[in-house]
Amino acid sequence: MPDTKLHTLKTIVEKYKQDHILEHYDTLTTARKDKLLEQIQTIDFAGLHELYTHSGANEEVKALDVAPLSVPGWNELAADRGSLEKTGWELLREGRVAALLVAGGQGSRLGHSGPKGTFDIGLPSHKSLFQLQAERLLNLGRRAGTVIPWCIMTSPGNHADTVNFFAQHNYFGYDQDQLFFFNQAVIPALDQDGKMILETPWRICSVPNGTGGCIPALRSSGIMDKLKERGVEWFFYYNVDNALIKIADPQFIGFAHAAGQPIACKVVEKRDADEKIGVVCLQDGRPSVVEYSDFSEQLKQQRDCKTGQLVFGSGNISIHLFHLRFLEEASQQKLVHKAVQKEVQTDWGPVLAYKYEAFIFDLFEYASGMSLVRVDREEEFAPVKNSASPDSPGEARELVLNLHRKWFEKLGAPENLIKGREIEVSPLTSYDGEGLVTGMLDNQENPLLI
Ligand code: UTP
Repeated sequence: MPDTKLHTLKTIVEKYKQDHILEHYDTLTTARKDKLLEQIQTIDFAGLHELYTHSGANEEVKALDVAPLSVPGWNELAADRGSLEKTGWELLREGRVAALLVAGGQGSRLGHSGPKGTFDIGLPSHKSLFQLQAERLLNLGRRAGTVIPWCIMTSPGNHADTVNFFAQHNYFGYDQDQLFFFNQAVIPALDQDGKMILETPWRICSVPNGTGGCIPALRSSGIMDKLKERGVEWFFYYNVDNALIKIADPQFIGFAHAAGQPIACKVVEKRDADEKIGVVCLQDGRPSVVEYSDFSEQLKQQRDCKTGQLVFGSGNISIHLFHLRFLEEASQQKLVHKAVQKEVQTDWGPVLAYKYEAFIFDLFEYASGMSLVRVDREEEFAPVKNSASPDSPGEARELVLNLHRKWFEKLGAPENLIKGREIEVSPLTSYDGEGLVTGMLDNQENPLLI
């Protein structure tokens, strides 16, 4: 590495009082010196300084202006569900819908060493979260007579492991031409004094820039334009860690299309006041998602005196349909990052750091409106967040198996064929309980894989 480059970068880091990141430089091998300088070159020092001084770590919190918003369930909607679903299937068949998975997170609470999508929640089939998702999409695509484009956002820390996992599993049978991996950006974490943190003597601790990073990354990767050229209009956005995710749900697609708003969201009734999920409500008079940590204890606990239900009880489960026109608009906007205090690991032990994340829902204000529907959490929400309860892999496993059992109960299967058995239905066999017959339970195996 020429000395002039080192000299230039030294000047910059000194200007921003970050010269400690070069304190081990002279002891490093040439390859590591190069790596460190390369990383420093990618950092927006001025932007980072601005973040530290203005993004929550040091700012006063604005008073929350929120009001409840009642969200109709499927049964309360005026439109006929059958016709919504039919429209959804048509849009899928015409190639106007893509799936958009955000899988760039660090999954630190779960404590799994690989990307979260590679995690096996312990189902009898031992399928990973990625495999469950791939098979649901394959099922829908087969029935629609197409292959649904699948965009997968990773981050630099898990990109290679994610792509390799797909390759090792032969892409779960997915057509590689319809798989679009792209990387989100990272931002250096800062310590309490606004200093960057060395993870190792040659690497600065940088973390993914949050789910809000998904839209600019989709755009800058060229994937948004490529899919636009192919005729995609709707992007079905979802988290990697929902074991029950009904990806590209045709009924929801039809609902979003009929509603004509640029964003559609599914919500669930919150389990209890303390469930750590965002709330869909009016904020400053507009439908928004407000983080659970932004609510006062009093607002969180408030219940309707007639129904006893939580007033702010519409939980955000990160299932959205975005119209391309919203994504195009939002991709032009400056992301607003919030500082989140979390521990990061370094060669010298853990350090309490500020991580800067932008949330996808903070971009919702650029949409002209949102359509909302409440869904049944037992059918659609099994989050895998923590290694132990709540939202543990074991709970998600039970939720998946309970739903599959329920599908057979609905068919009137005799209790002796269901009780005490673990029945797992492959998403390749059934996406939503369709195509099942009680005769499938005749095989006495337990667990039973269908
Ligand atoms: P979470 O907020 O649950 O974060 O992400 P996480 O990184 O998975 O887990 P913790 O907080 O470290 O334990 C919700 C979804 O958003 C994605 C995650 O991969 C998950 O699908 N995500 C989160 C990103 O894609 N990028 C990010 O920068 C953050």
